[in-house]
Amino acid sequence: MRSTLFALIAMTTLVACGDKAEVTPPASQASAPKPVTYDAAPVVNPGKLKYVAVCQGCHGSTGGGQGPFPKLAGKPAEELIAKLNDYRAGKEVGPQSSTMMPFAKALTDTEIESISAYLAAL
Ligand code: HEC
Repeated sequence: MRSTLFALIAMTTLVACGDKAEVTPPASQASAPKPVTYDAAPVVNPGKLKYVAVCQGCHGSTGGGQGPFPKLAGKPAEELIAKLNDYRAGKEVGPQSSTMMPFAKALTDTEIESISAYLAAL
């Protein structure tokens, strides 16, 4: 019992010493600039890039729609994905479907998903 207690005290002392044994970098390294790390994902939104490049001319810069071009902003992503898949498959959605089909046919699954997520969040 007594030896166990001694061992515990010894270990605690060792751990405490270990904490203090921090290595201070030499002055030359201490002033070296820290590497800059950042997450580029929020800056480069692939859905937004594609929308701005291909779709905004008809559907508006903020997806609000104009004239015969329906509003897309704020619609549920699942609905946008389903309609884009229909256009891509050559299925009629509304009376102007033939205008929309070539643009949907040029999209990949990943592009449909990222554009829809972008529009749903507007
Ligand atoms: C040349 C103009 C034009 C361009 C460019 C265009 N669209 Fe459309 N879009 C339309 C028209 C017109 C309709 C309505 C079609 C119909 O009657 O079904 C439509 C409908 C849609 C719909 C269905 C909306 C709804 O709620 O019924 C979606 C989703 C859509 N477009 C997404 C896109 C995306 C994404 C792009 C870019 C890749 C794009 N559009 C590019 C003209 C365009």
